[in-house]
Amino acid sequence: MPAATPAVSFDPALGLAVLRTPNSVYAIRIGADGSPRHLHWGPVLDPAALTAPHSPADSSFEAEAAADELAPQTGARFGPAGLQVRFADGTIGAQWDFLGPRITGGELRLRLADRRYPLAADLCYRVRPDSDVIERWTELTHTGEDAPVTVHRLDSASWTLPRLADYRLSHLVGGWNSEFQLQRDRLPVAETTLTSRRGLTGHHASPWLALDDGTADEEHGEVWSTALAWSGSWRITVHRDPVGRTTWTGGFGHEGLSWRLAPGETLHTPVFSGLYSAGGFGGASRAWHAHVRSQVLPEPERDRPVLYNSWEATGFAVDEAGQRRLAKLAAGLGVELFVLDDGWFGARTSDLAGLGDWTPRPAAFPDGLRPLADEVHRLGMDFGLWVEPEMVNRDSDLYRAHPDWVVHTPTRDATELRNQLMLNFALPEVEAWAHATLDRLVTENGVDWLKWDANRPVTEAGRPGHPDPDRLWIDHTRAVHRIMDRLRADHPGLRIEACAGGGARVDLGVLARTDQAWTSDNTDPVDRISIQHGFSQLLPAQAMAAWVTDSPNVTTGRTTPLRFRFHVSMAGALGLGGDLTHWTPEELTEAAELVARYKEIRPLVQRGEQHRLTGSGGVTAVHYAAADGAEHAVLAFRPTTSFGHQPAPLRLPALDSRARYRDLDTGEEYGGALLRHRGIELRLPAGDHASRLIRLRRVD
Ligand code: DGJ
Repeated sequence: MPAATPAVSFDPALGLAVLRTPNSVYAIRIGADGSPRHLHWGPVLDPAALTAPHSPADSSFEAEAAADELAPQTGARFGPAGLQVRFADGTIGAQWDFLGPRITGGELRLRLADRRYPLAADLCYRVRPDSDVIERWTELTHTGEDAPVTVHRLDSASWTLPRLADYRLSHLVGGWNSEFQLQRDRLPVAETTLTSRRGLTGHHASPWLALDDGTADEEHGEVWSTALAWSGSWRITVHRDPVGRTTWTGGFGHEGLSWRLAPGETLHTPVFSGLYSAGGFGGASRAWHAHVRSQVLPEPERDRPVLYNSWEATGFAVDEAGQRRLAKLAAGLGVELFVLDDGWFGARTSDLAGLGDWTPRPAAFPDGLRPLADEVHRLGMDFGLWVEPEMVNRDSDLYRAHPDWVVHTPTRDATELRNQLMLNFALPEVEAWAHATLDRLVTENGVDWLKWDANRPVTEAGRPGHPDPDRLWIDHTRAVHRIMDRLRADHPGLRIEACAGGGARVDLGVLARTDQAWTSDNTDPVDRISIQHGFSQLLPAQAMAAWVTDSPNVTTGRTTPLRFRFHVSMAGALGLGGDLTHWTPEELTEAAELVARYKEIRPLVQRGEQHRLTGSGGVTAVHYAAADGAEHAVLAFRPTTSFGHQPAPLRLPALDSRARYRDLDTGEEYGGALLRHRGIELRLPAGDHASRLIRLRRVD
């Protein structure tokens, strides 16, 4: 038998580095100038056939050679540079000598050193046997002993597409209450920048994008997509040049920041992962979901619990008696985790005061949180607690004791957002305080789950007198990640939910240490359909917290049936967030039935393969299929009805044409070919906000 082709190889004669994944090949050629140049990213082929030098066009104005793996701001390169440095003598950019590759298992490092200055870079790549995702990052080292180097830009990676007839960009935009709206537009011949300057991943943009030639659809076509694992400010610039090439470069930080690289120091970037898929947008999403489950999320095999959260029910008006009432009702519905949200601590009876004072408010919890936690445990549920550790109200004991702990510039007026300021976790004493505070809360109260919120972006960041003032944009985020990691390590079993005023901190960095993310403060099921559609482009349903709340909805005022609200939320990690004390006995009974139904399909929703479907007449659906194809759950939604027409049967292209399937609720049996090609009758109830859950089992 021929030896298996190694996942990573380097041919010194050709200067050719190759990474192989099950369904793709990525190839790099070391240019004559020592810079690694991009050669191929796409379907499996022999990259040696592609090694003919990319000769620059015969014109002094078109001298640019093949795209760089990280453009170093020297030579005939005029696009966005992924590495921008300035040395002490004023010289800008790097000129590399290639020192050679280092290959360890699935990891490749291309080692570079500047020809005249004490600067070295490793361009790093990692592939894994069961995934088409290529992880990339950069490590930049000051190899000298004298003056620091100023770093204006240090991207994790730059990516290059093969030449396509046209280019289309898919990305996510939004705002508070409208996160993850999928935008799919022709890519202009220009530099298009997606960015967050907020110190958070951001509501308004996500560090994920996909590119195709304009012809891909859910199930067909080539799609190249990338995702950055960073929870602070970031920037990705896509460059479609007039000659027809498209590249993009991205990493942490936004424009205008610079970092000081001290002698001997190494700056590590976050991972920027890329995926090539020939299976359309749906195929790309499924490959991302598999990667996120196997390489990113902690404990992917552990069921995400059905949770109850008190926020929409009680707001800041929390007290022990009220929470006990809600907990009892929640337990009766089959809820597995009860989360006490904002308002339990300090002087926090509104958003004006108390943030930072993480001790239970005596008027609300006279004996602390332990009695409530014990009661929740007695009811058979885990106990969860809301915290917002990075924030402080001016009206708080913490701020009065440590006004210098907030992110601020003394000569600038500080902007308050939601009446709060942000603590500077780049200060070691603040990080230590936050860790100790959270550790104490978890230990003393038997907390099983922390909901870690962050309700404002960074403004007026500064550290006057500090030699590297902009470093706080990196260090703050790293401290957040580090505290989460320490808490999880010290409290096995503790789970964390990422939240930032809804979905403003959702990325592969935070999800490496949290179990799920709060998707949006907008819990209106109609709006949630598009929010969840966008979320699912990169992330699996088990990471997408989705609550059923009251009707009319607090955000939109829209009235919807309980079943529709449930069905939409059952497409993710189901939670409940309404005021259960106002639900009728009939509603409570129906809710309990739907929670039980969710638990039956939970393995499919949380660990199955997801297919996004579009039917007729405004119907959309999500189909979750077990990996072995035996079990299926389809959640179909029709927010508005038109003309009283019944939608066409919904086609289920993920089924096997040769198999037979039984509808577990009606007992009807169907051939797979029929369901794939003609579809299943949805038999939706009349009227707006109609929905249906269909469960199918392969019977042959
Ligand atoms: C914003 C979150 O998204 C909400 O779920 C809730 O926790 C509030 N913050 C509490 O202030």
